[in-house]
Amino acid sequence: MAPESAENAKPDAAERMSPQELAELQLRRLRATLRHAYDHVPHYRQAFDAAGVHPRDCRSLTDLPRFPFTTKDDLRRHYPYGMFAVPRDRIRRIHASSGTTGEPTVVGYTQGDLDTWAGLVARAIRAAGGRPGDTVHVAYGYGLFTGGLGAHYGAERLGCTVIPASGGMTSRQVRLIRDLRPEIIMVTPSYMLTLLDEFERQGIDPRGTSLRTGIFGAEPWTEAMRAEIEDRFGIDAVDIYGLSEMMGPGVAQEYATTKDGLHLFEDHFLPEIVDPVTGEPQPDGTTGELVLTTLTREGMPVIRYRTRDLTRLLPGTAASFRRMERITGRSDDMVILRGVNLFPGQVEEIVLQVPGVSPHFQLRLTRRDRLDRLTVRAETRPGATAEQRAAAPGEIARRIKDGIGVSVSVELVEPGTLERSVGKIKRIVDEREKGEGKATSG
Ligand code: DLL
Repeated sequence: MAPESAENAKPDAAERMSPQELAELQLRRLRATLRHAYDHVPHYRQAFDAAGVHPRDCRSLTDLPRFPFTTKDDLRRHYPYGMFAVPRDRIRRIHASSGTTGEPTVVGYTQGDLDTWAGLVARAIRAAGGRPGDTVHVAYGYGLFTGGLGAHYGAERLGCTVIPASGGMTSRQVRLIRDLRPEIIMVTPSYMLTLLDEFERQGIDPRGTSLRTGIFGAEPWTEAMRAEIEDRFGIDAVDIYGLSEMMGPGVAQEYATTKDGLHLFEDHFLPEIVDPVTGEPQPDGTTGELVLTTLTREGMPVIRYRTRDLTRLLPGTAASFRRMERITGRSDDMVILRGVNLFPGQVEEIVLQVPGVSPHFQLRLTRRDRLDRLTVRAETRPGATAEQRAAAPGEIARRIKDGIGVSVSVELVEPGTLERSVGKIKRIVDEREKGEGKATSG
């Protein structure tokens, strides 16, 4: 093994820093980032001036909440290049967010940013149990989405062999895994389930593959889903988190040795938790909205970005960085049903506990007589018994009523009925604006 590869296999110095060393590094980087943003991005200059703060007012990490938030709308307003802090010719690559609402946001990376990103994803893969010499099958989409290329360069940086499969062409994915024998797969958890169907369709035992580890992210998933994937494939499944506005995958990673939530790579991203409604900072341990500040981005520094992701911060275990709990949901994905908040993840946990029901489910929202209604459509597992089929709808509805506190309808459908994911899955089908929806909602 080359000396560089042996080096790659070890945790790096930052992962083992003392809290004091980490705080000093963060303050130094934070001050430089605030200054860089203020000097080179008109939006930040105006926003800081309007809030009556200046980068020199940041004397300790506790001064950060004095600075204004950045929202997705701020980024949209400055589409496409208005948030860049370096001349365009220093930008080496562009990515864009999924733009589900039709208005994309663009992010730009200098060569330095790309190097940092590859290093952080390499760290993430190593934390997940990957080693130089492993083969990594990347089934995150390649393109404007950060998943594919982000994973790709990180795996190469670690010293792995990369199979750049991207998303889609599912039967070919199965063949590549069978023939090229990767140890690691990087993919959304929902697409991993699609691959599972395909292995079974082709009569190949998913537990018999060369795969040892799956690094899953880009969408919420639950402990129940981890158990399902680990069991069906016979692999270790760990969580990876990131967002294009910060960089892409590699903002936080779950370590294979502890599997206890995601360690935030705090040497490059400074986390805060705020109340999602009031924006008030919350202490560690309290659930709220994750707010992130980049500490090393050159091309596009982002100050106090409102991620809309809900989680809480916990002390580090496998590394000196703090952990964040698995994302329980995005405030955007929260369904408010007759005053009760519900996240698709809560339904995922329940569906997976009911015998005879598969992890494929969908939440259909409709409106009748001015009332919102939720129907859980779930597929039965192939081979579910008649008793299981008969009992499942009532069982799911009862568990949702008891656990979440709201009445829903449940519709069981045959295996293979619901649309399969090739990337990020869409769990909620909102039909409230259809039919009598608008007319009766006042
Ligand atoms: O999804 C980056 C990524 C790619 C992360 C591959 C992990 C693996 P965006 O398309 O900008 O970037 O979407 C970011 O996805 O704010 C979360 O709501 C959600 N998300 C990402 N990772 C997780 C995760 C990429 N592990 C948005 N758990 C984020 C739950 C996640 N949600």
